[in-house]
Amino acid sequence: MSRVLALSGSLRASSFNTWILHALPALAPEDMHLHVYEHLGDLPHFSEDLEADPPAAVRALWRALADADGLIVATPEYNGGMPGVLKNALDWASRPYGSSVLPGHAAVVLSSSPGIFGGIRAQAQLRELFALLNVYVVGGPQVAIPEVHTRLDPTADPAHRLTDPTTRAMLTSLLHGLAEAIDHQAGNRLIKPLHHWQNGLAA
Ligand SMILES: Cc1cc2nc3c(=O)[nH]c(=O)nc-3n(C[C@H](O)[C@H](O)[C@H](O)COP(=O)(O)O)c2cc1C
Repeated sequence: MSRVLALSGSLRASSFNTWILHALPALAPEDMHLHVYEHLGDLPHFSEDLEADPPAAVRALWRALADADGLIVATPEYNGGMPGVLKNALDWASRPYGSSVLPGHAAVVLSSSPGIFGGIRAQAQLRELFALLNVYVVGGPQVAIPEVHTRLDPTADPAHRLTDPTTRAMLTSLLHGLAEAIDHQAGNRLIKPLHHWQNGLAA
């Protein structure tokens, strides 16, 4: 069984991106357990001054990440980029420097928007950030969901809110890609050069 932590880039109560995350368990492989982590809003703004004695919300995020074999991030786009709340969470996740629990994870990223570009610029930023943090991101299919409000039924229960068959099929494929990346330890392979570098520094 693989454990996957799902993060939404939106704190909005009726967030389309969060709704999509809640639709994923029904599309995931049977042995993938998905947990939507809804506490990014509890994190303080990142400050190096807080690192010596990290607040409980930060330790909780680190624990949740350490317990997960994989990550899913669904994000809206704010003014052409990823929302501050998501960048803040990933900045916290990247610490402590040299012993962050993030490197080596496998991940999928997706974005959605009521607009016609599906939040693709925010998604591109996220992919760039994960490359920097040595998180292995499944390359495709690249899922940026445009006009997302037309693909959801707000009156349905969370597991059945995502109605659009094409989006469901793409997400199913993406989740199977994540399962394979986890099974093949794609993330761990990625961080071998990082360990080599760190060991070299320690020697
Ligand atoms: C501050 C702000 C900036 C936004 N900028 C963009 C943008 O650059 N591109 C876009 O597609 N939508 C933009 N939107 C619209 C969001 O895509 C829309 O509010 C979306 O529903 C937010 O995602 P959520 O439903 O998951 O909360 C913006 C919304 C806000 C509040």
